This record gives sequence, C-alpha cells and structure tokens, in this order.
Amino acid sequence: MSGAANHNDARSLPAGANAAAPLLEIRDLRVSFSLEDGRRLTAVDGINLSVSPGEAIGIAGESGSGKSTAASAIMGLLPPNGRIDSGSIRYRGLDLVAEGAPLRRTRWREIAVVFQGSLVALNPVIKVRDQVAEAIELRLGEPANAAREKAKRLLADVGIPDKRLEAYPHQLSGGQRQRAMLAVALSCSPAVLIGDEPTTALDVIVQAQILELLDRMRHEYGLGLILITHDLAVIADMCDRVAIMYGGRIVESGSVREVFTNPRHPYTQALLGAAPDARAGRRTIKVLEGQPPDLASLPPGCHFAPRCPLADARCTEEDPPTVSYEDRVTLACHRYEPNGGALPAPVAAPYPVLELGKR
Ligand SMILES: Nc1ncnc2c1ncn2[C@@H]1O[C@H](COP(=O)(O)OP(=O)(O)O)[C@@H](O)[C@H]1O
Ligand SMILES: [Mg+2]
Repeated sequence: MSGAANHNDARSLPAGANAAAPLLEIRDLRVSFSLEDGRRLTAVDGINLSVSPGEAIGIAGESGSGKSTAASAIMGLLPPNGRIDSGSIRYRGLDLVAEGAPLRRTRWREIAVVFQGSLVALNPVIKVRDQVAEAIELRLGEPANAAREKAKRLLADVGIPDKRLEAYPHQLSGGQRQRAMLAVALSCSPAVLIGDEPTTALDVIVQAQILELLDRMRHEYGLGLILITHDLAVIADMCDRVAIMYGGRIVESGSVREVFTNPRHPYTQALLGAAPDARAGRRTIKVLEGQPPDLASLPPGCHFAPRCPLADARCTEEDPPTVSYEDRVTLACHRYEPNGGALPAPVAAPYPVLELGKR
C-alpha cells in the first residue's frame, strides 16, 4: 500500500517531544464540567492509560462513564464548560496539559479521532474529496493541488472508489461516510488514532469492514489505537489491552486475555455477564441492576458500591486504591488486597442469572 511509507516520512515531532519517550502516557487525569446550577461534574476521575506504537487499547464501560470526555481531553477538544483539573497527558514525553498550547500542535498531526459516523460530522455541502483535501490544507499547510492528490490517495486507501470522490456526504452509504471520516482523521498521518464508538451506528457487516480497516491501518502504519466502545466483542477481537471504566474511573485494566478470562472487578464481571455468553452456547444474561452514578454528586467510596453485590461498609466510605498486580492487571476494588503484588484469584460476585429460553 502506498500510504505506509508516506505516513512515517511525514513524522517530525513537535518541539519538546522526544522520540525515545513513550508514545502516549496519561497519568492521574481529571476532567470536570461546570453545570448551569453551579455544581461541578467530575467526568474523568484520575485515569492512567498508555499506548505504544502498533498497540490497540480498548476502553469499555456503560454510557456516561467518561470515555468520550477522556477522548476529548486527549484531543484538546473539550467543550467550553469542560476543563482538565489535574494530571498529565504526555505525547512522546511532551506534557500536553502543563503547557496547554501543545494540545493544538498535536491535535490531528500526532493524535486524531474518529467519532461515531454520521452526516453531521461531515460538511453536507462539500464534496468528499474536497473535505479531506481541506483538512490537509488547513492542518498541514499544504498547497491545494498537493492536498487534492493526497486526499485522492487517502480515500483510495480507506476503500472509497474513485467514482465517489466527487460525491456529497448524503450520496454516500453510512459505511462510506465512516471511511471518509477515517480518511480525514488519517490526513495528517497521526501516530495515535482514537476511535470513539466508530462503528456504533453501522450495521454488522459494515461494522466488520470498518474494524478490519482500522486493524489494517494499525498494523501498516504502526498506529497506536484507542478504541472506545460499549461492545466487548469488538474489544476482544481488536485489542491487546482493555480498560474498564465506571463513574469516571478505570476500575480494572490489563491484557484482553487476562481481563476477559478472569474478570476480577465486580463491575467487569457484570459487564461481561451482560454480554451474550457464546462459550456457554446459549444466551445467558446476568442482570446488573440500578443506574450509573450521578457524577455531579458522588458519595464517598467506590463509585460502583451502590450497585455492587459484594459491597460492605468500607466500600461506601473509602475510595479503593488502584493496585497494579504483576504489571499485568490493575484493579480498584476493596475485595482485593495488595497481596504483595501477586495477581489474586477472582472473587465471584453473585449476580442473578437469567437464562433466556429456559423457564
Ligand atoms: N459538556 C458537558 N457538560 C456537562 N456534563 C457533561 C458534558 N459532556 C459530558 N458530560 C457528562 O460527563 C459524564 C461522562 O460523559 P461521557 O464522557 O460522554 O461518557 P461516555 O462517553 O462514557 O458515555 C456524563 O455524566 C455526562 O453527562
Ligand atoms: Mg461516549
């Protein structure tokens, strides 16, 4: 494929960055929004995350757990009522939070995002090719002709046929629009790509095609991929590591294999239980009762405690610390002791099991 070489050639690091430093490292990131009633809502409550070149990290969690807010913060695209309260986002060692301005320099060129595909995300009155070309002109300052040529190559790369180059967004299928969005995101040859529910609006076959495309881009370009989705099967297919978010915190993280085969946090167990259980050869649904927390008025303690079947007094009083076990798994749950760092055996939460088709 023609794009791969260009992709790496185009890479020159922003001032202050160091090629030997980790690609993307997020430490203790806190993000909040001011609400109209004067309260502050903490949407991201101290998360740690890192991505290496060519690595895919999945972020999963119910709606409202802070996944998109984390993505917007990393992109420097928080809405006006949002702010980063503390923590660091380091791109190749350059702290994007401390200096504010680097967020603008890394946006699109180093770190790009694809949101859930829709007509809204593309300008309805601009032809697809012009839209990609415009992004290249604006963001890289390339002359119009070169930008149009590059746009054509990029669109071919993501599977938009030549005869669709002059189409308007509404003339494209949902899958083609999402491919075009991906071309826009890749237009400045970023090193990190964030997909925020990039296939949620698409039917399963098109979803599979887009995921395959993302996977190919990751391997051919060595992209660090952060894939945000509520679909655990997608993470199982696509990712090396996974972070499970609840109420703005990462409650469990680790290799996909470890976390999905031995989920330890009661919330991870509930999430996995809520997915159809293919291994059991039947649809088994474990019911997770209750609502996600109101992040604007959080009680002390573990955010999951009100819904947790294993919670005791300590869980509602003290925040569980995030403990790293054998560099393989992190857990924030009072059920598990630091244990000298040795990976503990999972404690099963007694969720009610509802077997469909059996009465
Ligand atoms: N612009 C905003 N103003 C106020 N609250 C917001 C804003 N955007 C998101 N939130 C709140 O932040 C929390 C996390 O939202 P979000 O990051 O969108 O979660 P997710 O992507 O996991 O569904 C939610 O409680 C949501 O209501
Ligand atoms: Mg979201």
